[in-house]
Amino acid sequence: MSVVEIEFGALASKIGVAIHRATPSVVSSGPKQRAIGEPAKTLEISNSHNTVGSLKRLLRRTFSNPMISEVESQYTYVKFVDANGTISAQVNYLGEQKVFSATQLTAMYLGKLWDTSAKELKTAVSDVVITVPGLYTDIQRRALLDAAQIAGLNVLRLINDTTAVALGYGITKSDLPEAENPRHVTFVDVGHASMSVAVVAFSEGQLIVKSTAYDPHVGGRDIDYALLQHFATDFKEKSKIDVLSNPKAICRLSAGCDRVKNVLSANAEAPLNVESIMNDVDVHSHLTRQEYEEVISDVLSRLEAPLHAALVDFGPTIDQIDTVGLVGGCTRIPAVRQKTQNWSGGKTLSTTLNQDEAAARGATFACAMLSPTFRPEDEDTELTVFPKGNNRPVDQDPHVLPQIRVRGRGYADPSTLPGGINPWIAKFTAKDVQPQPNGDYQIVKVKTRLSANGILSFEQVYTEEIEEREEQPMQVDGAEGEAAQPKKIVKKHEVPFVWGHSGVDASIVPQFREV
Ligand SMILES: Nc1ncnc2c1ncn2[C@@H]1O[C@H](COP(=O)(O)OP(=O)(O)OP(=O)(O)O)[C@@H](O)[C@H]1O
Ligand SMILES: [Mg+2]
Repeated sequence: MSVVEIEFGALASKIGVAIHRATPSVVSSGPKQRAIGEPAKTLEISNSHNTVGSLKRLLRRTFSNPMISEVESQYTYVKFVDANGTISAQVNYLGEQKVFSATQLTAMYLGKLWDTSAKELKTAVSDVVITVPGLYTDIQRRALLDAAQIAGLNVLRLINDTTAVALGYGITKSDLPEAENPRHVTFVDVGHASMSVAVVAFSEGQLIVKSTAYDPHVGGRDIDYALLQHFATDFKEKSKIDVLSNPKAICRLSAGCDRVKNVLSANAEAPLNVESIMNDVDVHSHLTRQEYEEVISDVLSRLEAPLHAALVDFGPTIDQIDTVGLVGGCTRIPAVRQKTQNWSGGKTLSTTLNQDEAAARGATFACAMLSPTFRPEDEDTELTVFPKGNNRPVDQDPHVLPQIRVRGRGYADPSTLPGGINPWIAKFTAKDVQPQPNGDYQIVKVKTRLSANGILSFEQVYTEEIEEREEQPMQVDGAEGEAAQPKKIVKKHEVPFVWGHSGVDASIVPQFREV
């Protein structure tokens, strides 16, 4: 049996350990079958209306979320619809119109990764560790766990991608300093659709994430989009064709823009040739690196805010940062490196982390630590993963009798969550709470737990009865008698409670298994 780790990326997910392979996060439905991963990616142009990508970004969004209508819709031709309050895709599958939720599509995708891993490892895969963005909320984490459950995977742990990257770095270092004088490393991850910056303090046997900052809406696809607009304008003038009016032409040009972007990372100029883009017209153009940087200057300037925010949150100045590590495919772009270097005051940027697989690698170590054959001595190794401290996302209202309810309570500051995601976490009701004997409101204590997966559960609810007793001191012969000491005795009384979260009930998981 083997453990597999999955870095769940917007563009592609990377599977760790034995196979280091990026599998496009795409599901394409067809009249005869469903394609997932690489074969689905190749269908993006010819079957664009039935092909769904960026699953990580769709998971558990609501249909009305502006991030769907204003952002995600720009990058896809599939028809999104609402199904039971969550975003779903309407596609033609086996000759019929079908609706699949993002959770179902993610389950299909994870199932495919699972199969691939098992085939390549030539052994049954039992458990997985999956990376998630640090900004993933309770709802999104539960949806991913649901998708994994539908796919038949056993998730050992959801791990924040910044933490996974830091783990991957720390585990290979044998020269880490003492805890009083930690080494501060900043990891800058610019991926396909999002960017994150984390400042992490490393010392012998310990890793603490000191600060993190995100822009969930900036990455390689914005560069592709800026290039697409640039070339579409060019071809409108030169070839009198309106690429933007034709979905297939847009897909063809987008693929060309992606190639131009890659070539310009290593070369001073790049050609763009797309045959038969539309109306049997072939188009040709080219771009120098300087022109490219002008075309994408808006995107580049958006990288500054997370860099500065992470530093401000960290506190000390940039001089206290020892190393800057680059992660994510877009940190190969010279202008992105230059931006980062300017911010760092000219520090040498480290590219020793594998840009594409840094998080998958870290998750590999997390797997190793979680597997029974490789247990760390101290399981409570400190991993401070919430940037603003562990802000308990729910509180209790002790003033409502005879029941207390925590309804629709969510994150402390929903404005910091990405793209207007539903901040709802759980519904909680404690029953039969009686007033105090003197008629005062009863104080109810609620014990919650934030699991290692970053999801919340309610563990215990109780009231406390405090009794004060006078404790007579022991009399010692001949000594002067001491005054009686008051002693507090706290008796706990359990309060029955019920609570519900957004996850799919285990009893209905089989319904989602095949569709
Ligand atoms: N050599 C290169 N030059 C320019 N861009 C590149 C290069 N290699 C990869 N990229 C871009 O990097 C992006 C993919 O990066 P990565 O694999 O880190 O993203 P992801 O993890 O799937 O996305 P996210 O982190 O946003 O969920 C794509 O936009 C890809 O085109
Ligand atoms: Mg990524």
